[in-house]
Amino acid sequence: MTRLLVTGGAGFIGSNFVHHVIAHTEHQVTVLDKLTYAGNRASLAGLPDDRVTFVQGDIADAALVDELTSRADAVVHYAAESHNDNSLHDPRPFLDTNIVGTYTLLEAARRHDVRFHHISTDEVYGDLELDDPQRFTETTPYSPSSPYSSTKAGSDLLVRAWVRSFGVRATISNCSNNYGPYQHVEKFIPRQITNVIRGIRPKLYGAGENVRDWIHADDHSSAVMAILDRGTIGETYLIGADGEKNNRQVVEQILELMDQPQDAYEHVTDRAGHDLRYAIDSTKLRTELGWMPQYGDFTRGLAATIDWYRAHEDWWAPSKDATEAFYAGKGQ
Ligand code: NAD
Ligand code: DAU
Repeated sequence: MTRLLVTGGAGFIGSNFVHHVIAHTEHQVTVLDKLTYAGNRASLAGLPDDRVTFVQGDIADAALVDELTSRADAVVHYAAESHNDNSLHDPRPFLDTNIVGTYTLLEAARRHDVRFHHISTDEVYGDLELDDPQRFTETTPYSPSSPYSSTKAGSDLLVRAWVRSFGVRATISNCSNNYGPYQHVEKFIPRQITNVIRGIRPKLYGAGENVRDWIHADDHSSAVMAILDRGTIGETYLIGADGEKNNRQVVEQILELMDQPQDAYEHVTDRAGHDLRYAIDSTKLRTELGWMPQYGDFTRGLAATIDWYRAHEDWWAPSKDATEAFYAGKGQ
């Protein structure tokens, strides 16, 4: 039995990971989460109290992080400010959490010689042309575009430096766009699903030609477990499920699955510096660690996600109006 400290475990991907760990392992989990606007205690409802402990706190709180890390066998670090649009509006919390918070955790892992896995994003590599035959690999040079992705890139580099300089037993994974249950309504797919439920037309930034490489959050979780179990210390693994689609295609699929006309959406102001295309080559993870995604069919995963949002209006409704007011203020 392993004691995992999961930071950001009340957020979208962190909570999916905690559910995955409880369902598929014998591990004990302590969640450390600040419960920012993006964290929701309800995302962990129904999990067994004797296996999951929740601590509300900041990953930049060195004393708290030290105490929790001293009692863990491994830290799985999901906590972050995660939304590009917010980072364009107010970058400061991104520096505090993504850079200083990661530094604080690394120092604790170093002091207590605790295994560390850092969750990161494909956005650290910048973007690709639509017709570029190359996809991102572990050797693609870093070239982040936004305040969000630059702080994630900075946090990755801190992890690499702590491995090399101090021998911290860390791995890094950079994953593509996740979808699934418990994702905040500020993000693309849940925003459009909940818009349709509310009778609001989905909003496409710009022409809707931007491509994202979609993966179900549960596949992300199984990949992280594979890296924790079998990954090589100091290595980076890219996580992706060959799910490239442009935003217009995704909106049209949501509308079709929700019995709406496929053109019932509108174009809104584009995101500043909007990355054109992300695409992951996950050959290393598949060949070296034997990982395979289980949600091969995006349409089926999307339909299940739509069902989840239909059934859990109590979970997302409290955030919906404030989120739409924020976007409306920016013509989005
Ligand atoms: P999210 O915004 O849904 O959740 C973030 C969680 O971190 C929230 O529960 C929040 O309360 C918590 N948090 C924020 N600041 C904190 C702090 N200072 N101390 C403690 N807790 C804090 O984010 P997400 O989409 O679940 O992303 C999780 C991780 O995965 C991030 O590191 C992100 O960069 C990475 N990632 C996300 C995606 C994606 O598609 N969403 C893809 C690849 C990687
Ligand atoms: O690639 C991994 C990244 O994916 C993660 O690191 C980030 O944490 C996560 O938020 C996500 O970043 P994106 O910026 O790609 O995700 P977002 O859901 O904000 O937007 C997805 C695409 O949809 C992007 O091209 C912008 C567009 N979009 C978004 C919103 C909210 C729209 O067209 N309309 C919208 O209303």
